[in-house]
Amino acid sequence: MAVPDELLDKIRNISNLPTLPASAAILTDAMNDPTLSVRNIGNIAGQDPSLAAKVIRLANSSYYGIPKRITNVEDAAVVLGLRVMQALVLSMTVFDSMHGSRSGDSRKTIWKHSIATAAAGRLIAEKIEMPGVSPDDAFCAGLLHDIGKIAMTQYLRDDYERVTAVCMQSKEMSFHEAEKRILGYSHTDVFEWMTESWNLPDSLFVPVRYHHEPDEAPENSPEAFICNVADCIAHESKAVRSNEKTGAVPKIAESAMAKIGLSAESYDEIAKDLPKQLDLMRSFVEVIG
Ligand SMILES: [Fe+2]
Ligand SMILES: [Fe+2]
Repeated sequence: MAVPDELLDKIRNISNLPTLPASAAILTDAMNDPTLSVRNIGNIAGQDPSLAAKVIRLANSSYYGIPKRITNVEDAAVVLGLRVMQALVLSMTVFDSMHGSRSGDSRKTIWKHSIATAAAGRLIAEKIEMPGVSPDDAFCAGLLHDIGKIAMTQYLRDDYERVTAVCMQSKEMSFHEAEKRILGYSHTDVFEWMTESWNLPDSLFVPVRYHHEPDEAPENSPEAFICNVADCIAHESKAVRSNEKTGAVPKIAESAMAKIGLSAESYDEIAKDLPKQLDLMRSFVEVIG
C-alpha cells in the first residue's frame, strides 16, 4: 500500500513543528560541530531550563553511580557523554511534545520499553566487545528505536489503533508484522521520514531504521543487530513486559546472534541482569511525564 504524499509531507514536517526540537535541533547541530566540547554542549542544553533539570536528574541517577551530587548541566553533560545527551534530548523532546489524547498509556509504555532496550543494548555491546561498536551508541539506538511509534500515536492515530486492535486479538503477529500487513508501512518507515532533516549520524540512524530487519541495513551494521536483539530481550523481560497491545514478541533476526557473536548463555545473562539495571534507571522513566 503506498503512503499518500500528503501523509508523507505531514510526517516529514514533524521535525519542523514549533514544539519539536527547537533545543534538540540546536543541540544536534552543536554536536556535529567538532570544535565544541561536551561542556559547551551542556551549556547550550542549559539554556532550556526544563531540559537542563532533566539532564541533571539523569546524571544523578543510580545508573551512573556518580558518588558526588551533580548540580549543573555542564557536569551532567560530562557524565552522560555527547552521544547519550543527543539521544536523550531527541527522545525526550519527541516523547514530551507528542501526546495525543488517547495515546497516553502507549507513550509511557513505549518509553519504558525504549529505556529497557537501551539498557539491554549497552549490556550486549559491553559483553561482545566488538571493535568499533560503542556501548554508548547501542544505548542511544535503544532509546530512540521506537520513536516512529510515538509519532504514529499522534499523527497517524487511526492507523496506530487499527494495528493495536489486531495485535490485541492475534497473539501471533508482532506489531511490526501487523503494521506491514495492515498499513503497508511501519514505525521504522515513519522514523526515516520524520528524521530526514535531523542529520542523525549513521551509527544512530541505521540501527533504529533497521532494528526489525537488520539484514537489510545498507552496510553490515552490528549496531542494527544489537538493537534487534536488545528489542527482543526488552520485550521478553517481565520487568517491562508491555501489555497485550504490542502483539507477539518481535523475532530475533536469524543471523543476529552469530553476526554479533552473542551466545545463548550471554543472552540469558543479559535478560537476567536487565531488571536490576532498570531499577537503577527509575529516574529515566520519571523524566517523561
Ligand atoms: Fe520497533
Ligand atoms: Fe521496540
